[in-house]
Amino acid sequence: MPAEELRVRIVDKDALISVLTDKVDKDLLAAATRLRVVSNIAVGYDNIDVPAAKARGIVVTNTPDVLTEATAELTWTLILSAARRVPEGDRLVRRRGWKGWALDFMLGTELRGKQLGIIGRGRIGRAVAARAPAFGMTTVFAKHDMSFDQLLVSSDVISIHTPLTAETRHMFDRRTLARMKRTAILVNTARGPVIDEEALAWALKERLIAAAALDVYEREPIVHEALLDLENVVLAPHLGSATRETRTAMIDLAVGNALAVLEGKPPLTPL
Ligand code: DGY
Repeated sequence: MPAEELRVRIVDKDALISVLTDKVDKDLLAAATRLRVVSNIAVGYDNIDVPAAKARGIVVTNTPDVLTEATAELTWTLILSAARRVPEGDRLVRRRGWKGWALDFMLGTELRGKQLGIIGRGRIGRAVAARAPAFGMTTVFAKHDMSFDQLLVSSDVISIHTPLTAETRHMFDRRTLARMKRTAILVNTARGPVIDEEALAWALKERLIAAAALDVYEREPIVHEALLDLENVVLAPHLGSATRETRTAMIDLAVGNALAVLEGKPPLTPL
C-alpha cells in the first residue's frame, strides 16, 4: 500500500498488519488514533518506531522462529553460489560465451577446512552455524568466540545476521572491509545498511576481498550501480524468507498476533 494511502486508511483501524516496506513512523502512529497493535510480517522491525508505538500504548509484534530455517538455507545458497561462482557461470552460459571444459576454468573456493565467521548469535546466526559441519567448516561468533576485528582478519566466509541498529549501520565500511582476508567471501541476509555498498563495490573491484553475496540492500529495490557491473558479487532480491511454507507461517503468526491483541489476550510474539 502506498504510504499516502496507508496514512489515510489507518485513521479508523484497530490493527495494522505491516510488511517491512511499510514505514511505521511517528507521523503514521500519530494519525492512527484507534490503533492497538502493529503486527509486522517480518522478524526485523527497523521499519517501525517501536519506542514511539509503545509510548502510545500500541503493542508491536514480529514473526521470529518461523523464518529461521528458510533464511539459513538461503544463506548457504549464497555462500555456495559465491564460492563456486554459479551465477557468474550461468551468465556466461546464457550469453553463449562458454568455450568448454578446461583444467583452470572458473575455479572457485572449497569450503572444507575453512572458518565461517558469524556476526549475530541470534536464531538465524545459530541455524547457519548448525549447517557448517556438513561442509567441514568451523564456526566462530563475533563477540562470543573472538572480537569483531579478530573475526574479520581470520575468517574465510563472513555471514551477517545482526539487526540493523545505530551500532551496526555501516559496520562493514572501507576500513573493516580492508581488514578482511583477500580470499574472503562476505554474505549479507540481514539488513542492507549493515554494509556500506559503495565501500563494498570498491573492495570487490580492488580485490581486497574475493567475493560477496547479498540478499539485502541499502535502498531496496535500488542496488548500487557499481555492484551491478561486478562479476564477483551474487545479488539476490531479498529472498531470505521467500518459501511458500515460511511465508504462510509468517502470515498466520502475524494474524494470530493481531487477533490476540484485539481479543485482549497476550500477543504470541511481542517485541
Ligand atoms: C524479515 O523477516 O525481517 C525478513 O527480512 C523478511 O523476509
